[in-house]
Order: sequence, then C-alpha cells, then structure tokens
Amino acid sequence: MAGVHRRGSVAPWHDLTRRGLGVRRVGRAVGISASTAWRWRRRFVDVAVPSAESSAMPGAPTVIDLFAGAGGMSAGFQAAGFRVVAAVEMWDVAAKSFQSAHPAAAVLVAPVEAVSGRRLLRAAGLVRGECAVMCGGPPCPPFSSLSASRLTDDDRHGLWREYLRLVDCVLPQWVVIENVPGLLSSAEAIGGIRDAFATLGYSVAYRILDAADFGVPQYRRRAVIIAKRGGGAIPFPAPSHGSGRLPYRTATEALAPPTNGLTAAEIPPLSALATERLSYIAAGESVWDAMPRLPLHLKIKGSGFPSSIYRRLDENAPSYTVVGNGGGGTLIYHWGENRPLSNRERARLQGFDDGHAFHGSHREIRAQIGNAVPPPLARAVAEALKLG
Ligand SMILES: C[S@@+](CC[C@H](N)C(=O)[O-])C[C@H]1O[C@@H](n2cnc3c(N)ncnc32)[C@H](O)[C@@H]1O
Repeated sequence: MAGVHRRGSVAPWHDLTRRGLGVRRVGRAVGISASTAWRWRRRFVDVAVPSAESSAMPGAPTVIDLFAGAGGMSAGFQAAGFRVVAAVEMWDVAAKSFQSAHPAAAVLVAPVEAVSGRRLLRAAGLVRGECAVMCGGPPCPPFSSLSASRLTDDDRHGLWREYLRLVDCVLPQWVVIENVPGLLSSAEAIGGIRDAFATLGYSVAYRILDAADFGVPQYRRRAVIIAKRGGGAIPFPAPSHGSGRLPYRTATEALAPPTNGLTAAEIPPLSALATERLSYIAAGESVWDAMPRLPLHLKIKGSGFPSSIYRRLDENAPSYTVVGNGGGGTLIYHWGENRPLSNRERARLQGFDDGHAFHGSHREIRAQIGNAVPPPLARAVAEALKLG
C-alpha cells in the first residue's frame, strides 16, 4: 500500500506545538515571521507515513532526499538499488509527485528549516549514522562567503546552514549535492563548502558533469559535489556516452512513440504568430539563426532574450538544456513540427520513465521537470558511490 497521508502525524510543527509552543513562537524558533509561520502551519502539516513497502529491499543502502522536487535524483538512486526512505520538499505539488514515484518514502511536506534531525531520522526509520546517502542541493546563495563561520541571515545562506545542520544530525555516509555549474567558479564558495564539511568530518570533491555523457538525451552541465564521512577518496562516474564511447542519445530516440501518457491535448497551444515564426526556423536553429529570413512582423524586437529562444531540437543530437520556467520561446520546439514539446516529452529529454507521474498544473509540472536532476545522471553517481 502506498504511503498514507495522516494529517499532522509526524510533521515538525506538530512536534513543536506539542511541546507547548504556539505557532508564533515556533516561527521564532525557526527564524521566520509570524505570518509566514501561520502560512506554514496551514500548509505543511501533512506528511506521508511510510507504509509496509518501506521494508521492501531490506538491507539496501538508504537515501534521504532534501529539496526533493519531483524526485529525479531519488529515481536515479532507486534505479541503482538504493532505498529511498525519506524526503523533504515544501512545494505541495512537487511533494505529491515525489510521493507517487516513491510511495514507500516518508515525504515531509515542509520547509527544510522546520524539520528537526530527530524527526527526519524517525520518519526515515533510521538512527544517526545509519543513512547511506543524503542528497539534494539547497538553492544557491551568492557565491561568496559561504563558509559556515561567515553564514549570514540571507535566506539562501540559511538553507546551506540548514542543510549542514541536518547532515550533522543524520550523519550520512555520503552527501551528494547537485547545483548550477556557476557554484564551482568561485574559489571562495568551494573553500567555504569544503571548510563546512571538514568541520563535520567529511572530505569533499566536486566535478561538473554533463548529463549527455551518461545517456541522457540532453546537454545539461551540472556541478556535483560529493562528501564522504570520515574522509578519503571520492568516486565519480566515468562517462558512458560521447566521443569514443556509446553514441549520445538523440532527441529522435527520446521522443519515440510514447508507451503511455502522451496525448495531443498535452501539447500547449501556440499563437498563430509563433507558429508562423517557427515555420521559418530549421531543425537545430534558434530564432537568431533565422532572423535574416524572417519577415518584419516575425522578427524578435528588444534585447535580453536567451540565445536558445525559439530553438528547435536537432533530431540527430541530444536536446539543449531543459528549463523549468520562461515564457513563449523557451518551451523547446520539435525539429519538424511547428509546436513546442509536451511536458511528457520534456520529461523524456530529462531521462524520466513514462511511468513517473507529475502532479500540478501544466506550468507547475513543467517547473518540476525542468528543476530535476536527470535520473540516469543520478543513477551513474549512485553506482559510483556503491563502488567507492
Ligand atoms: C532544484 S529542485 C530539486 C530537484 C530534485 N532534486 C529532483 O531531482 O527532482 C529544488 C526544490 O527545492 C524546493 N525547496 C526550495 N526551498 C526549500 C525549502 N526551504 N525547504 C524545502 N524545499 C525547498 C523547491 O520547491 C524545489 O522543488
């Protein structure tokens, strides 16, 4: 049976208020305003309690996913034989998607800041030091002054501090953090991360990995930081696809007829103007390439547009990077048909199985897909940890 939602059963709010603290004081305790505290109180008391399924795969290494989104990272770990036991995600629709994909996991629908280590361990059914992997990346702070000693009250700095707080409480064997490549371009940021983990007794290594090199039909460069409890060498996966290896997976392969779930109704409507504009753009080109051929009324006016605006896929290559938001022109366009992709097609480009369900509106699902770590990339990292 899937995880059961029990209102307030193991939510951190319940825990704190049971200790006699009012919502206002609980808010103060986790550093948020009274109004935010009330909003959280109303929205975040639901939590999924793990069902009997969590005892499937006994003995498999365990995963706790923070900032879990729709569960792309966890899907990769699961495919590598890990058991996803708990997750924290504050966005209700993403948490619902996560729960559908990982019915045996306890999903805490709450801000990470409001989750105590004790609660997280109890939800996961683990004791301190027992968890194999804690994964997920906090949204990025400015890339300076990341070091634990100099963390400020900036919200995003706060998320790193909260992440480290939970690492300290849970003491996983490995920590895996995915983030934007820009994070690694600041020596100060990396120094800060290394110092913070060293304080907790972890060694750290980092690389930029491209998802296409791991069988994902999409070029997607991401910083992957791995920390190991107790120190020592840190393994990274060797690329399996690309020059001299298996051929890259192409957009054509990715968008082969669906095994389920894809309907024409899913494809977002496109204005007549945008449809006409697309008709001038060849496979692999963006609107900038086609600009000289465009009639005046179809030209893009103004500045500040991304280089990939109205870009069609190249059917013989991996897709360009799938993003979770942006207006018309950023939806990723079919190489031969005058249309943007459906959400399921975007999920295919991220390497999700067709069986991975996403909840929410079309726009919310697009965001969850664009935010995700491609499962095959996460799987490659997970396999490397198993050997490490
Ligand atoms: C980049 S996405 C995670 C993607 C996920 N790793 C995957 O592979 O699908 C970051 C997620 O963190 C969530 N988030 C942001 N701030 C949060 C917080 N303070 N507490 C909990 N979740 C948070 C967002 O709602 C978003 O779903």
